[in-house]
Amino acid sequence: MSRRRKTTVQTLLSMKQRGDKIVMLTAYDYQTALLEDRAGVDMILVGDSLGMVVLGYENTIPVTLEEIVHHLRGVSHARPQAFVVGDLPFMSYQASPQDAVRNAGRLVKEGGAEGVKLEGGRRMEAVIKAIVDANIPVMGHIGLTPQSVHHLGGMRVQGKAPADADKLVEEALFLEEAGCFSMVLEGMPLQLARRITERVSIPTIGIGAGRYCDGQVLVVNDLLGMNDEFDAKFVKRYAEVGKQMTEAFDAYIKEVKEGSFPDPEHSYSTD
Ligand code: KIV
Repeated sequence: MSRRRKTTVQTLLSMKQRGDKIVMLTAYDYQTALLEDRAGVDMILVGDSLGMVVLGYENTIPVTLEEIVHHLRGVSHARPQAFVVGDLPFMSYQASPQDAVRNAGRLVKEGGAEGVKLEGGRRMEAVIKAIVDANIPVMGHIGLTPQSVHHLGGMRVQGKAPADADKLVEEALFLEEAGCFSMVLEGMPLQLARRITERVSIPTIGIGAGRYCDGQVLVVNDLLGMNDEFDAKFVKRYAEVGKQMTEAFDAYIKEVKEGSFPDPEHSYSTD
């Protein structure tokens, strides 16, 4: 199988310029990262969504830097050709630019991330500039920013009113100017995501932001249909892995209980 070349910040920029769509997926472990990379995804995000889908937290707020580093290690050990982004969790970058640089550095040095992602626009100016000055690529994230769930008053689509939409366009332009190499646009009308994508020269990666972004990202567990109770409008399930797992567990339980597993084919014998 021919290997792709390593995806870099420059590759992603060229993809935007050529109009090639960028495919991003979350991964939280070695084997999933290997499979995603073999399939050809361009970017892998070790997102703080791991708080919900791996650790069972209610939202992303409790996720720690250590948890992100731990899962990043598994992903980066897959040595993906995809560009690996580590999410800076809540309160690992908001308090000061110094904290932000130190913690972004840990995601790169200890976790093997090639870039970091953080939420927020203009109010993150000093933080973004400090991390970029440390030569760490920064991905912005605006629109519905889950770490601000309490401030936003819930997980609501952002930028529906004209004034809010204009503000988000300003925030996107600011992220580009501050030195971000790309940005996530989450939970906004597709018309607004299109406006932003046309105005900025860095790639926009959408989730719940429609088809006009330069690329798309989904949480891998959602795409695989691991949790049939989570059913957001923006999620498309490409498989029903949760159902398949349940069927496999049921069959295993039945065979162990009735004594048909292990059969001779799955047993060692002295001869
Ligand atoms: O944590 C995450 O998975 C994310 C994506 C949804 C963009 O931030």
